[in-house]
Amino acid sequence: MSGIVGFLGKRNALPILLDCLEKLDYRGYDSAGVAISNFYDIEVKKTVGRVKNLRSLLGDDPILQGTLGIGHTRWATHGIPSVTNSHPLSGCSDRFFVVHNGIIENYAQLRRSLSQKGHSFITDTDTEVIPHLLEEYDTGNFETTVLKVLPMLKGSFALAIVSREQPNTIIGVSQDNPLVLGFGKEEAFLASDIPAILSYTREIHPIKNGEIVILSPEKVVVKNFNGDVLEPERIVVEWNVQDVILNEYQHYMMKEIFEQPKAIEETLLGRLTPHGVNLPELESIWDEESVKRLRKIYIVASGTSYHSGLLGKKVIEQFLGIPVEATFSSEFTYNHQPSNEPSLVIVLSQSGETADTLSALRQAKQSGCPVIAITNTAGSSIARKADSTIYTKAGPELAVASTKAYTSQIVALILLSIWLAKKGDGPGTSHIRSLVDSLECLPGDVESTLIMTQEAIDQFAQITYDQDHLFLIGRGLDYVLALEGALKLQEVAYIHADAYAAGEMKHGTMALITPGVPVIALATQESVLDKLISNIKEVKARGAFVVGISTIGDDLIGEVVDQVLFIPSTHPLLMPILAAIPLQLLAYYSGTVRGHDVDRPRNLAKSLTVE
Ligand code: F6R
Repeated sequence: MSGIVGFLGKRNALPILLDCLEKLDYRGYDSAGVAISNFYDIEVKKTVGRVKNLRSLLGDDPILQGTLGIGHTRWATHGIPSVTNSHPLSGCSDRFFVVHNGIIENYAQLRRSLSQKGHSFITDTDTEVIPHLLEEYDTGNFETTVLKVLPMLKGSFALAIVSREQPNTIIGVSQDNPLVLGFGKEEAFLASDIPAILSYTREIHPIKNGEIVILSPEKVVVKNFNGDVLEPERIVVEWNVQDVILNEYQHYMMKEIFEQPKAIEETLLGRLTPHGVNLPELESIWDEESVKRLRKIYIVASGTSYHSGLLGKKVIEQFLGIPVEATFSSEFTYNHQPSNEPSLVIVLSQSGETADTLSALRQAKQSGCPVIAITNTAGSSIARKADSTIYTKAGPELAVASTKAYTSQIVALILLSIWLAKKGDGPGTSHIRSLVDSLECLPGDVESTLIMTQEAIDQFAQITYDQDHLFLIGRGLDYVLALEGALKLQEVAYIHADAYAAGEMKHGTMALITPGVPVIALATQESVLDKLISNIKEVKARGAFVVGISTIGDDLIGEVVDQVLFIPSTHPLLMPILAAIPLQLLAYYSGTVRGHDVDRPRNLAKSLTVE
């Protein structure tokens, strides 16, 4: 799992590649490297660590000036982070240089047969087989050689390749792995993700399976594997350069937390009507009859997106009145049995490229299930492969920890629930009006929550500085939100945070409650408040330090907890969105007070394109 870039134009390629790589380093930051061509020669530089390390290395050791280049930022899958394992990688005679994202599944087999032919390998990577194959099957024509080698590769891969024999050309390929071609003025780009090239262009073509892209000074051509020239899509993306600039913020995570009112407003824009929801993207596939026929819905996603799916499950069940099963994408394949009952699969993915979710989507389609995708990324693989797509409009999310995409996904799921209830005449129809009214006020409520909680959470994070364990408890929707709060604290603050259904503590976990251990009690669901208060008293009796998160006007909670944080009150189904804000802030401040790089947590990467 890595990020790749390519540039060809009239300007010096190196600063552009470094800038693009920095915007991509959320995809992995174990090592970084570039290959630059001046059309006569190609020079490679690489180092372990982040792109800034590569910058320092290049500062001491200037590289060739050239207007063509490829670059890579790595999340190690095969082989430790080391200079040797860093990309660009070449073969025995340094004729071809390759940057790769994905996994070559048959690399061991290829490596064995190439070794028998005399190739010697120096890295532990799966990628190294590619430059060796290109050398072994070199036809003397760069494009023909690439086309000859591609059918030998199994797995998922996005590649950018340069050749010493044709040093004025970059070839890009994508097989089940994201790669976009960007069109600039007299220049062209390749990138694993759109934010990398937004400072240079907003006009893109997502490269698809079976396409090869050839960038040369004369022209940029998209072809199929038979050599037929194809018309590129030239999609103009809605995101702009401001979306990928930190401005006054120190970290993308904080910027994105504070962008939530806008992200939600954009996601709602044009979709609310006085009596329901307008989702024209679904109308061509779904009518009243097809919704009424549905007997089961699956929601499939990974990580934080799975957590928004758990909330979506509760809302759809309540509104449409049919069973909904939320499953991790990585488990869906084992759990999903093709059934004769009409069912629907909803896949959720911020990036639209998560390999586990893509694979679940394929599985669903193979079993004949229609698929609705909810994603934040236009033109992404998941958006292209689903039968219909609802876009969240959160803008690019660059911090590894998802925040604004999470709350926007919940909003999109609520919109979908209302739409399904209306079409399917579900039991929630009579509640639509009040939910729509609350949705209209939601961006303002999120704004108020940010203002009301930021300072108190900052202080609480300082107090819990030396705590390694933390518990989050809640009932119903609050429990589901607790799962997300725990994940945020784990990934950003490296705190062993665990979420429990409050009523379950007494069945075992209570043994872990010792004096002073911090417990966050989520108390936003009035219908379960009495029982939750009893559970809070139980952990208090064992000495826990309890912080309650509740709504303005609730004076019961204040009496049983050590500290209480009030947030605005809204429709109960929307409370998890508001209550997510202090939990995100807590993860952020706890991470920074511990000195962690909150945007780039250790061992992680965003947009996981490997299963
Ligand atoms: C955690 C986080 C991840 C992602 C997960 C799925 O903060 O961001 O858990 O939610 O990797 O990613 P998408 O939504 O892009 O499919």
